[in-house]
Amino acid sequence: MDKLLIQGGQPLAGEVAISGAKNAALPILCASLLTAEPLQLANVPHLNDISTMLRLLAQMGVEVTLDGADGLVLDGKGLNNPLASYEMVKTMRASILVLGPLVARCGEARVSLPGGCAIGARPVDQHIKGLQAMGAEIKVEQGYVHAKASRLKGARICTDMVTVTGTENLMMAACLAEGETIIENAAREPEVVDLANCLISMGARISGAGTDVIRIRGVERLTGAQHSIMPDRIETGTYLCAAAATGGEIRLTRTSAAYLDTVVDKLMDAGCDIVTERDAIRLKAPSRLKSVSLRTAPYPAFPTDMQAQFMAVNAVAEGVATIRETIFENRFMHAVELMRLGADIQIEGSNAIVRGVDRLEGATVMATDLRASASLVIAGLVARGETLIDRIYHLDRGYERIEEKLARLGARVKRVH
Ligand code: UD1
Repeated sequence: MDKLLIQGGQPLAGEVAISGAKNAALPILCASLLTAEPLQLANVPHLNDISTMLRLLAQMGVEVTLDGADGLVLDGKGLNNPLASYEMVKTMRASILVLGPLVARCGEARVSLPGGCAIGARPVDQHIKGLQAMGAEIKVEQGYVHAKASRLKGARICTDMVTVTGTENLMMAACLAEGETIIENAAREPEVVDLANCLISMGARISGAGTDVIRIRGVERLTGAQHSIMPDRIETGTYLCAAAATGGEIRLTRTSAAYLDTVVDKLMDAGCDIVTERDAIRLKAPSRLKSVSLRTAPYPAFPTDMQAQFMAVNAVAEGVATIRETIFENRFMHAVELMRLGADIQIEGSNAIVRGVDRLEGATVMATDLRASASLVIAGLVARGETLIDRIYHLDRGYERIEEKLARLGARVKRVH
């Protein structure tokens, strides 16, 4: 299993390009299931989660062709096997995103339940309830969701909580339903908007994406289209945090601060100097960061996917920060690993109290989930001496060529097999 070896203590400096957003690309790949015509995508990140999704789509009969360095063409005309097996879904929860498109286009789907994951129970009841409201007949048997509908019907759906993939699944299903669907309490995440824009290019009639009420007027069929995936705001935020924590100065290109207001504000509160350009962001860290407290919540509030990285930032800042996690019940596993590097963190339920220390010392740590891994990388870059991060397959799920990008910024990072 690959590990990452980091020789810490080097401020990050230089310029690096940000990849396409994993969380926008995953649902957009699934949108290919909705049409028998080719969907041509650009700026698709090279990530393990993307490869997993492509394998899953290929198993269903979607033809996948590479198109240049970061492009893909997905052709769903041969779609003939509306099944997502446990073997596929257990490795990636986002596989549930095939459910809505499959029922809408094939009239049936068999998709394994994702089950638990490291950061919490994460049920999919809202996805199921929404499809039932659209007239799908759903049975959950032997760990599989079996859904059937000759044609879905538009419905008014109000989700019990804000769910990102839930909103995306239902929005995709509604595109081919008969009549109008209204999703209330919809997720407002930029990735939902990117998916909606792709669907609209395919002929879908969607309004309100980016607000908490999305209206979809179903059409008979969708067509092929071209779409470029938005930049990854979480990758962007992660590199900003790494530069901030190491006292560095970087410029991130092919990205935008447009969807990162809360993250940029927190980094400025911590004392960073941030300049936003049209397609780039520059950050210069202060000589010592100040602690910043935060609370995670659905967009446009502070993203849970940036919580772990800010814990690493606060670990070496001056002062005491409280980090409150409100989305997932078990998303502080990185805290104990950060403590192995010398961080002073106390967990009280869904609050983490982080007392900044003057320095961290390298150690061997273990990555437990994707963003937890990112926080360990940041801490390893700050720590004196050598940090060895085990189980970095989590990182490869969501960060493209991380060691190469960090090395370009002057970090001493090596992948060891
Ligand atoms: C998406 C993101 C993930 C991010 C999360 C929250 C993708 C592929 N993943 O995950 O990176 O951390 O949003 O911003 O886009 N819930 C239910 N029932 C449901 C659905 C959700 O109880 O049917 C709960 C979850 O357990 C969680 C909360 O709602 O506590 C939000 O989850 P959700 O927004 O659905 O997360 P994902 O879409 O899985």
